[in-house]
Amino acid sequence: MEDKIVQFLKSADGYLSGEEISRDLKMSRAAVWKHIEELRKDGYEIVAVPHQGYQLLSSPDKLLPVLVQSGLQTKILGKEIIYQESVESTMDIAFRLGMEGAKEGTLICAETQTKGRGRMGRSWSSPKEKGIYFSLILRPKASPTDTAKLTLLTAVALCEAVTKETGLKPVIKWPNDVLINNRKLAGILTELSAEMDRVRFVIIGIGVNANTPLNLLPANATSIKNELGQPVSRIKLLQEILGSLENWYEIFKVEGFNPVVKKWKQLSVTLGKRVRVVDSGGTIEGVAMDLDQYGGLIIRDDSGMKIIKMAGDVVQV
Ligand code: BTN
Repeated sequence: MEDKIVQFLKSADGYLSGEEISRDLKMSRAAVWKHIEELRKDGYEIVAVPHQGYQLLSSPDKLLPVLVQSGLQTKILGKEIIYQESVESTMDIAFRLGMEGAKEGTLICAETQTKGRGRMGRSWSSPKEKGIYFSLILRPKASPTDTAKLTLLTAVALCEAVTKETGLKPVIKWPNDVLINNRKLAGILTELSAEMDRVRFVIIGIGVNANTPLNLLPANATSIKNELGQPVSRIKLLQEILGSLENWYEIFKVEGFNPVVKKWKQLSVTLGKRVRVVDSGGTIEGVAMDLDQYGGLIIRDDSGMKIIKMAGDVVQV
């Protein structure tokens, strides 16, 4: 019921009378007052003026579903939101919900993660209410080899959304690190449940260092707040990311991978550079030539041999 009141207050232009709320939500004026008190405890700043009613002055800086969904321009992503203050990792919840049949586009987000994880067994720093930490369940009609494409697509969408919301111009380091000034701003972790030739669901996990102070981040990381010199609205940025991601996902479904690759190449700082790629199979060095049809990185080593990597860490040398 509190969510309904928030929606009402948000859509009102100025004051909203207690009488109007009580009539539309079919509750007594005393009940309205009680809910308003609860909302204030949750961090909503609501003024009450006799004979005029209530006005919402500000909302808490939390990724509450009612706030994220208010003004969200998507058709699928984020239509279902599971929100928790604190979780071990949004990936685990998403995986469980995926197994239970959760709808495509279901979003799991948290204010903090106690075991946030990144690629290659690393941890992901997730201080409370500073960054944006979420996982999305997608159900593409695709084979497991197509999932790397979704990761590259997500990196493109993230860059686009950050630019739209902040004016900053992040770039992509293969496969999916989003960087500004050579420091990591956001990361993507893709996990999947699949049969041999068919994906059951994909979990796209995204962590964005939005307003995170540098002392809570690894040495090679940065945050939007640090780059901009002022905090960003995490809600608006999350809405922008969902919008951009849905748009690129639609393009991918209709037109295939080529438009994604084209945009990815414009944003990439990896292609054409001499790189060292480290993965579980070892280390290779050479020139990053191109992407292959699945999103793998084609490297030409010093003997002229072409090697394709599907995962790994890239260092420019
Ligand atoms: C990386 O760059 O290594 C990927 C980082 C992915 C972090 C996000 S935060 C939300 C989701 N939950 C996790 O535990 N990890 C991803």
